[in-house]
Amino acid sequence: MRTEFKNEAFTNFKEEPGNLAYDAALRQVEAELGRSYPLVVGGARIDTARKATSVNPARHGQVVGIVAQADLELAERAIAAAAAAFETWQRVDPQERARYLYRAAAMLRRRKHEFSAWMTLEAGKTRAEADADTAEAIDFMEFYAREMQRLALPQPLTPSAEEENHLYYAPLGVGVVIPPWNFPLAIVAGMTCAAIVCGNAVVLKPASPTPVIAAKFVELLEQAGLPPGVVNFLPGPGGEVGDALVDHPLTRFVSFTGSRDVGLRINERAAKTQPGQRWIKRVVLEMGGKDAIVVDADADADQAADAIVAAAFGFSGQKCSACSRAIVHQDIYEAVLDKVVERTRKLVVGDPADRATDVGPVVDDKAYRKILDYIEIGKREGRLVLGGGSRDPGGWFVEPTIFADVDPKARISQEEIFGPVVAFTKAGSFEEALRIANDTDYGLTGAVISNDRAHLELARREFFAGNLYLNRKCTGALVGTHPFGGFNMSGTDSKAGGRDYLLLFMQAKVVSERF
Ligand code: SER
Repeated sequence: MRTEFKNEAFTNFKEEPGNLAYDAALRQVEAELGRSYPLVVGGARIDTARKATSVNPARHGQVVGIVAQADLELAERAIAAAAAAFETWQRVDPQERARYLYRAAAMLRRRKHEFSAWMTLEAGKTRAEADADTAEAIDFMEFYAREMQRLALPQPLTPSAEEENHLYYAPLGVGVVIPPWNFPLAIVAGMTCAAIVCGNAVVLKPASPTPVIAAKFVELLEQAGLPPGVVNFLPGPGGEVGDALVDHPLTRFVSFTGSRDVGLRINERAAKTQPGQRWIKRVVLEMGGKDAIVVDADADADQAADAIVAAAFGFSGQKCSACSRAIVHQDIYEAVLDKVVERTRKLVVGDPADRATDVGPVVDDKAYRKILDYIEIGKREGRLVLGGGSRDPGGWFVEPTIFADVDPKARISQEEIFGPVVAFTKAGSFEEALRIANDTDYGLTGAVISNDRAHLELARREFFAGNLYLNRKCTGALVGTHPFGGFNMSGTDSKAGGRDYLLLFMQAKVVSERF
């Protein structure tokens, strides 16, 4: 047996050795920029006439990779390849399946900075953010491998004198995995490995802005010896290829992380039974958030400001867990706002490859334009106190932006912006602050900064969020420690990195024998 699961340590970038190793990894990856990446279907590499170009968001003239693009016929082939692989993979001993994950995790640990450097160049992640993403990918593989081993053990049932009873977890079949670009390694690895360690075979359609890092991960799984066809790599346009995969009658489940609109579309399409379909498709969705940090009258203003700045502007606010609303008691409102502004002014916005950078670019032109549009809306809905502009025409940089005195019903208080924009709202009491925090379609993360025990207990009961943090920031969930997923329009409350996650990709069979 393996040792107990432990979260992977982060690299210390305050010291020289971590930075030097990262510099070397960046140089190595830079030498590999611009290569071509084919589809991988049933282990075969397939090139296509249609291509997509993945670029560095900090320097969009720099090509990270050229990626083949699937069409409907290739989507069909990928599903068929997964269905064929499932016939053998489902019968592989769960212990053996777990070992592929341990092997891939060990290999990733040895090449940690190289993978992180790809994220710096393709997703615009700073060193620390990229390093945390790689650590989380390792964690997901280590955690789900152990989970599969646990679930393969005899499961507790009420004993019967007449019979021998066993409950076995069986895989579902062919899965479609559609991960997001914002954790282009961790969530790709987590969603893919959770599905396959259970004995399913999948078609992985990477997010359009970050296909190269996903291709590198698929290559890692191959190097770890994973049999062909268990993971099929199928980059392509979402509207065309994504829909075809979701609709396919051989698709047994869809695992999706991304925007609310796409998640709801998948949910609707998957609900429609196709001719020849023998099951009810299962849908696991992790969607957006409009996450709030509530600051109580008696809170430590410095602690509150640190939490808000880290959660609002880390990775330019491009996390479903990001703090996009600061709801602050009137007694401490000006003090917290001033401290957040003061700290945000000091953030270094720039190329994420640079050591000193705190905030990198946003991921692509579409995100850039959407965020700047919301900033224009914000100027009509609140008082712009900091930021609001873009910095560098060579990259998609948006300044960390703070709006004050925003109405809880304003669009920038209600709609997910997915950028470095935070709206401050003043509350007359803690209860009012909590009501405002809950006045959202979403329910992913939230935080409360308070010294009042009764208020903390009230929030524990009444703050409607899948991941509630008391006296800390609302980002940075750790695998195994903070199983992650939310309520309402944030998704199906599937807890990634939690002990019930793998059950979403399996079905239980009970066998009762009389002797
Ligand atoms: N799990 C990430 C966090 O907690 C968001 O996806 O920040």
